Amino acid sequence: MAESWHPGWVMSASRPAATTTSSTTSSTTPTTTPVTSRPSVGPLRIGSHEVWPPVVLAPMAGVTNAPFRDLCRAHGAGLYVSEMISSRGLVEGHDKTYRLARFGPDETPRSIQLYGTDPSVMGEAVRRLVGELGAEHVDLNFGCPVRKVTRHGGGSALPWRRKLFQAVVGEAVRGAGPVPVTVKLRMGIDDEHLTYLDAGTIAEAEGVAAVALHARTAEQAYSGRARWDAIAALKAAVTSVPVLGNGDIWLARDAVRMVAETGCDGVVVGRGCLGRPWLFADLVAAFEGRPAHSAPPVGEVVDAMADHARRLCEWHGEATGIRDIRKHVGWYLQGYPVGPVARRRLVEADTLDAFVTRLGDLDRSVTLPAAAVGLPRGHQHGPRPVTVPEGFWLDRDDPTPLGVAADALTSGG
Ligand SMILES: Cc1cc2nc3c(=O)[nH]c(=O)nc-3n(C[C@H](O)[C@H](O)[C@H](O)COP(=O)(O)O)c2cc1C
Repeated sequence: MAESWHPGWVMSASRPAATTTSSTTSSTTPTTTPVTSRPSVGPLRIGSHEVWPPVVLAPMAGVTNAPFRDLCRAHGAGLYVSEMISSRGLVEGHDKTYRLARFGPDETPRSIQLYGTDPSVMGEAVRRLVGELGAEHVDLNFGCPVRKVTRHGGGSALPWRRKLFQAVVGEAVRGAGPVPVTVKLRMGIDDEHLTYLDAGTIAEAEGVAAVALHARTAEQAYSGRARWDAIAALKAAVTSVPVLGNGDIWLARDAVRMVAETGCDGVVVGRGCLGRPWLFADLVAAFEGRPAHSAPPVGEVVDAMADHARRLCEWHGEATGIRDIRKHVGWYLQGYPVGPVARRRLVEADTLDAFVTRLGDLDRSVTLPAAAVGLPRGHQHGPRPVTVPEGFWLDRDDPTPLGVAADALTSGG
């Protein structure tokens, strides 16, 4: 299906053109999400990378490792960002950080997400990512809402300290040289402390190649609806680099609607692809105005699960790989009427053979009920109050680094 448009950088289904097409239905899939017109958006340009369709896999800690990226890439096209790694872990040479930062042998472009709060550590970490590990795109995470880091001023709290934010981003951009650096933001800490418009324009001035917005505050965490109007506001404020919208793309048509409603230059897709790597095929289709199939029968789901489990076992070794696939079982089978026993047996499998054998017990003809198509999945928690350090609100222009504790993020955004 995929063919290269700009060799090396673009994973393209075909060159986009502004036309309108009509939808048809598939005989092999029980449910389709019709797309009737091609959205007026071109390839996404992130530095020297051109990406068509303008779709980015959201970094998800514990999920978007090389096997998962590979699986998603096999279904579709776009830019596939790694799980987040710690700048301090990298600079201090921790084995675990280096293991997390590994790319697949044929991965291109090599795209990685980095977390940190200290300008000099960030600069050095980016230099190592580019120089030692061959990273070709670095995304900086400023969206993490977890208390463990916000209470030290890190994660999604950091952009409030705009001079420090500017220094962190600037050092990363300079450390990367010609390799593009992007930032991923939330709207702010809460509705009284919104930061995204300032942060977006500061990052733009520091030379980032794109700005992505998860359109929720840290206080919202994953609750409620993403507020896409904030993506439109960011697009109006950031004018010289692409703006990417993120939040609540469950089906391919949501991505098309986000582009149409906000004017964003591309979309970042997270939870919608958990247990649904074929969403990336839907996205290619939707951005080309073709019908987007979104509900394969259990037989195809089982094949994807086996493929995913094999890739994880090859990558991590069987013991870790088989543990890692467990978190995906519920996502793959969400909404399918296969019963709790089958799910439990899969989660309890302790070898790849046992896992694949148990997958074989599932009835391949079972289909996804229409009511289950496009339902939210993954994190839904929140809202919850955000803790920041004493006196944090007082001086937005204090450039002092926050200290090692604010850097100690091991999961999530
Ligand atoms: C399991 C999980 C892990 C995540 N880890 C990260 C992360 O490491 N870095 C980050 O920027 N965002 C992280 N996120 C947030 C997503 O990248 C994304 O912004 C969020 O899920 C909203 O997009 P969605 O509605 O498409 O899921 C994570 C989300 C989930 C569900």
